Parts: sequence; C-alpha cells; structure tokens
Amino acid sequence: MTQQLAEGFADPAFQANPHPAYAHWRRTGPVRQVRLPNDMNAWLITRYDDSRRALADPRLSKAIPLDAASATARTPSIASAVSKHMLASDPPVHTRLRRLVSAAFTARRIEALRPRVEEITDGLLDDMQGKETLDLIDAFAFPLPIQVICELIGVPAADRDRFRSWSTIIVTGALAGDALPVATEEMVTYLRALLAERRSHRADDLISGLIDVRDREDRLTEDELTSMIFLLLIAGHETTVNLIGNGALILLDQRERWERLRADPALLPTAIEEFLRYESPVETSTFRVATEDLEIGGQRIAAGDPVLVVLLSANRDEDRFPAPDDMHLDRAQNPHLAFGHGIHYCLGAPLARLEAQVAFGKLLERFPGMRLAVPAEELTWRPGVLMRGLHDLPVVPA
Ligand code: HEM
Repeated sequence: MTQQLAEGFADPAFQANPHPAYAHWRRTGPVRQVRLPNDMNAWLITRYDDSRRALADPRLSKAIPLDAASATARTPSIASAVSKHMLASDPPVHTRLRRLVSAAFTARRIEALRPRVEEITDGLLDDMQGKETLDLIDAFAFPLPIQVICELIGVPAADRDRFRSWSTIIVTGALAGDALPVATEEMVTYLRALLAERRSHRADDLISGLIDVRDREDRLTEDELTSMIFLLLIAGHETTVNLIGNGALILLDQRERWERLRADPALLPTAIEEFLRYESPVETSTFRVATEDLEIGGQRIAAGDPVLVVLLSANRDEDRFPAPDDMHLDRAQNPHLAFGHGIHYCLGAPLARLEAQVAFGKLLERFPGMRLAVPAEELTWRPGVLMRGLHDLPVVPA
C-alpha cells in the first residue's frame, strides 16, 4: 500500500529530525512505496544492505526519463540541455561521459588544489573576524565550495549569487513549484552564453577543455556539454555546503566535540567521515527506474517503478553500524554510503573531503570560541527529499 508521505516530507517536524521515522521504517517496512511531494510514487529503500545492493544493480537504470522530470523544464530543448549527463545515463554513455572529466577529479589532482582551497578559506574567515553574529552557512559553508568549483570549472565567481538561487531551487525539486522551470531555463541560458563566450576566449579551465572535446574531437554533443557543466555546478554547490553546515552544527551543539577536535586535529579525517554518516548531506540518491521486475529486501518491484535509496537512513542502520545514533569523532569502521556506491559513486568525493578538512581545520583554529547564536531546536532545515542541510546557522564567531 502506498503511504501518503507528501506532507511528511514537507513537514518541518520531519525535516527537523527524520531519523526516528526512518528507524521505524527500517524495522517495519524497509522497502516501501511512498507518494513524494511531486505526486510521484516511488519505492524508498531504507536499510544498508539493500541500499548498497540497489546502488550497484544494473537493473536499476538512471537513463529512463520520468514524468516527474517534465516539471523541471518547459521545453524539450531546455530539458535536453540539463539531462544528458553522467548521473542520468547508464553504460556505455555513462562510462564515456565520466571518463572525460575523471582525470580532473583524481585524489592527486585534487590534493594539488589544497593551497588554493586554504587561501579561499582564509579569505572567508578573515571577513568573519570582528562580527558579533553571522550566518555560518551564508558566510562560509556556501561560498567556499562555490568558489572552488567555479574556479575549477571556469565559471566567473562574480556570477555565483545567481546560480546560488537557481541551484537552490533546482535541488528543491517539485516543492519549488513554478520557480523550478524558470530557474532551469535561466541557468541553461546562462550556461549557453558562457560556452559561447569561452569558445572565443579559451582559458586554462575545465570548460575550455570540454569545448575542445566537443568541437575538435566530437566526443560530446552540445547538450552533453551543457549538461556536464550543469551537473558539476549543482553537485559542487549543493552538497559540500551541507557537509560543512551539518558538521559545524554537530560540533557546536555539543561543545565537548568542538573542544575535542580542536585539541586533537589528527581526528579530522575520521570526524569528517562520521559527519558524512551521521547527518548525510545528500539525504536520498537520485531516482533509478527498474528495467525489469525485481526483488529488493523481499519486496517485489515492477518494471518501470521509480526507486530512491535513502542514504541518510542506510547510514544509521543498526545492522551495519554499532550504536548508529551515537556520533563518534573517531569511529574506526565507517563504510557509509554518503557518497553513493557503484558506478555513480561521487566523482567529487576527494574534493569534498579536502574542502571539509581545510574548512574545519581552519575554523577550529581561528575561531576557538565560536558558539551557536540561537538554540539548536530553533534551526530550520531546507525542504525537499534530496538534500539534508540547514537554511541558516547563526553563530557568535568570537
Ligand atoms: C559532501 C559533498 C558531497 C556529497 C555528500 C555527494 C554525494 C553524492 C552522491 C550520493 C552521489 C551519487 C548519487 C546517486 O547515485 O544517485 C554523487 C554523485 C556525483 N557527485 Fe557528489 N557529492 C558531494 C560533492 C560533490 C562535489 C564537490 C562534486 C564536484 C563536482 C560532485 C560531483 C558528483 C558527480 C559528477 C556525480 C555523478 C557521478 C556519476 O554519475 O558517475 N559531488 N555525489
């Protein structure tokens, strides 16, 4: 039976703390069909083992268009310009698209960005100095990953406020209503103009490299090119902000955690993995569609049915993680699914980890006395099922 979850997902109480509901579902119906805010029925997978298997199951396709996707764009031309990317493809298209950019995201290439990430971080922290209160999301968690991804791709940082608003609407999905097709169209128009400009003025950036792949080697269509930049910008914008925001809340809400990490920065890598597990920045995977009748966790799923893996729930599964609701800065075994699993495993994971290490390392060092400016219960979370992140995080920086 389909559960009416439309209100549940939009409900601020569910958003504030979805963990008890997910724990209940893992026990009582770990694979369940729900009605999503966009009126679409989807199977939610909430246990770790089922989730890991589903993410790697080739019978769950990423390349099948869903009716719900039509809400994203008003014209086929716009829809095509945002949907021909690796996260909406199966092999062999997926393999070709991912290979074209994977060299830019290897651990070694990303590590080389560290000095620049440090510089950007220091600049943002300099601007926070001397303020009585500020919103840590606005002042730090958002601009850091945006600036890094813009520089890496070759998008003028001066335009970042514009895609901050577009991408926020786009990841909110159907809950954003009519704003969704408008934002999508504006972003595509912007990207097309940017590509035209860069075609006449090449630079040493990812966009120029991809233009060569398209124009000289013909290994990419124009829609694939626009979709690639679109995906990288959205993925680079909307995710790491939540890792920094959620991690900062985890530390500030229980002061001894902040103090412990400050006293022992060697814990940073395991602490960041634990932030990713405990309050996963991406709440659910993107949609997959069953290409044939299949079974997951004892539940029959029919060909054509959409499936969503709830990463946030899988990462709190008591059958996989001892004491999953406890946050351990030094949790040793942590095979979380926060970056997904299988062929669509997050391309940007090394970059997100680097940004988080620099961000938390410097934040703790430069603002040892930082505290929340409002009680944690008053904080609100962003709507939608895809992302788990705070609207704002008011702090006293001192
Ligand atoms: C904490 C930060 C991040 C988290 C939690 C995260 C999470 C994820 C997840 C869960 C997926 C798989 C989705 C699915 O299978 O449905 C994914 C894919 C992807 N991510 Fe990330 N991501 C993060 C940061 C980034 C960054 C900084 C980039 C930079 C460009 C990025 C680029 C991508 C791309 C391109 C894919 C698609 C890979 C494919 O289809 O092969 N991500 N990410």
